[in-house]
Amino acid sequence: MRLFNSTTIRLFHRTFTQNIVPPNAITKLHKMSTVGKPINCKAAVSYKPNAPLVLDTITVDPPKSHEVRIKIINTAICHTDAYTLSGKDAEGLFPCVLGHEGAGIVESVGEGVTSVKVGDHVIPLYTAECGVCKFCKSGKTNLCGSVRATQGKGVMPDGTSRFHDSKGQSLYHFMGCSTFSEYTVVADVSVVAIDQTAPLESVCLLGCGVTTGYGAAIKTANVQKGDTVAVFGAGTVGLSVVQGAHSRGASRIIIVDINDNKETVSREFGATDFINPTKLSEGQTIVDKLVEMTDGGLDFTFDCTGNVDVMRSALEACHKGWGQSVIIGVADAGKEISTRPFQLVTGRVWKGSAFGGIKGRSEMGGLIKDYQEKKLKVDEFITARRPFSEINEGFEDLHNGTCLRTVLKF
Ligand SMILES: NC(=O)c1ccc[n+]([C@@H]2O[C@H](COP(=O)([O-])OP(=O)(O)OC[C@H]3O[C@@H](n4cnc5c(N)ncnc54)[C@H](O)[C@@H]3O)[C@@H](O)[C@H]2O)c1
Ligand SMILES: [Zn+2]
Ligand SMILES: [Zn+2]
Repeated sequence: MRLFNSTTIRLFHRTFTQNIVPPNAITKLHKMSTVGKPINCKAAVSYKPNAPLVLDTITVDPPKSHEVRIKIINTAICHTDAYTLSGKDAEGLFPCVLGHEGAGIVESVGEGVTSVKVGDHVIPLYTAECGVCKFCKSGKTNLCGSVRATQGKGVMPDGTSRFHDSKGQSLYHFMGCSTFSEYTVVADVSVVAIDQTAPLESVCLLGCGVTTGYGAAIKTANVQKGDTVAVFGAGTVGLSVVQGAHSRGASRIIIVDINDNKETVSREFGATDFINPTKLSEGQTIVDKLVEMTDGGLDFTFDCTGNVDVMRSALEACHKGWGQSVIIGVADAGKEISTRPFQLVTGRVWKGSAFGGIKGRSEMGGLIKDYQEKKLKVDEFITARRPFSEINEGFEDLHNGTCLRTVLKF
C-alpha cells in the first residue's frame, strides 16, 4: 500500500506488475497511458553554448503525421555534440536537446507511418532516407533532401518543435534525432527498425561514429585489397575507417595522431603503422614522411580530425595520378580548405563523406548483421558506461585522451 501512494508512475507500474496484473496487461496499460498524449520525461537541455547541460523534466508532444515517438534506451556522446555545444557550430541553435547517436524502442507513431511500428527497436538517423527525392533516386549519394531544410533549423518537418522545458519554453531539435531525452520525436524517414536481438547499448554507436568511418572506407572510398591507406585522427571515426580498410585487405594502414596513447588501440583495429606528426625528425613534414614510407604517396587518405591544415596534408600525401583524400571531420565555422590546384591537376582527388555514404534505412540492417557475425567491431569503442544523469561527466570523458565513446543509459 505504501508503494501505491508513490508519485512515480514507474514505481506504480512495477508494484502493479509484481502484485496484481499479468505483464501483457501492464504493457497495454502503459501504451494506453501515453499514446496520443504529451509525455513528461528526463532530458539534458543545452540552454547556451559552452555551459553544462541542464537535467530537466521536459514535455515531449505526441508524434504528428509521419512522425515517430521513440523511448531512447541508450545514447552515446559524439564529438559533433561537443562541437555544437562549444558554440563553434555556426548552425547551432539554443536552447536545444542535443544527441544523435542513440537507440531505442518505438512508443507510438503518427498518422501514415508504415515503416516502423510500436515496440520496434530502432536507431534514429541524422541522414534521412525517403527513397523518393531526387537525391535518394539518384543512386549516387546517401544525402536525402526530404527533411534537410527543417532539420537544419532544429524543427520537425511542419516547422514546429515537440519539446518544451519545465517552464513551457520550446526547445530545438538537433540533427533530426535529439537522443539526449528519454523520449524523442523524429520524422519517419529518419528512423530505421533493427533486429530486436541486437543489444541497444552497443548498436547505438551505429547511429553515427562507427557507421561514418566504416562506410567512408568501404563505400565512399571503396578501398580494395592491397591498397595503401593513411587515417588522420584515431577517434571512433578514424578507427572505424581503419577497420573498414582492414576488412578490405588494405596492405598498409597508417594512423597519424598527435596522441601517443592511441597507438595500441590503432593497432588493435588493424593499423600497421602509427605516426605522431609532432615527433618527426627536424625539417620533415608529415607529407614528406608519408610519401617516403609509401613510395610516392597513398592510394587513400582520410581526415578524421576536422582540422583544415590536416585536411591539406591528407590530400598532399596522396599518390600522384590516382590518390584520393576523403574529408570526414567537421571544421569550425568559417574555416576553409586550401591547396595548390596543381595537386588536383596531377590526379589527386578531394572528396567528402557524410554518415559514411551509408543509406540508413536500407543499409543499417547489413551493418547490424556484420556486427552480430563479429565482422564489425562496435563494443570495442565503448570506453565508459554511465547513467544518463552523468551526461556532463560523459562530455568531460571526451577530453581524457583515451576516450572513444561513453554510452549513457536511461
Ligand atoms: N562527416 C560525418 O558524417 C561525421 C560524422 C561523425 C563525426 N564527424 C567528425 O569526425 C571527426 C572525428 O570524430 P571522432 O568522434 O572520431 O573524434 P575524436 O575527438 O574522438 O578523435 C579525433 C582524433 O584526432 C586526433 N587529432 C586531433 N588533432 C590532430 C592533428 N592535428 N593531427 C592528427 N590527429 C589529430 C585526436 O588526438 C583524436 O584521437 C570530428 O570532427 C567529428 O565532428 C563527422
Ligand atoms: Zn530522399
Ligand atoms: Zn556524430
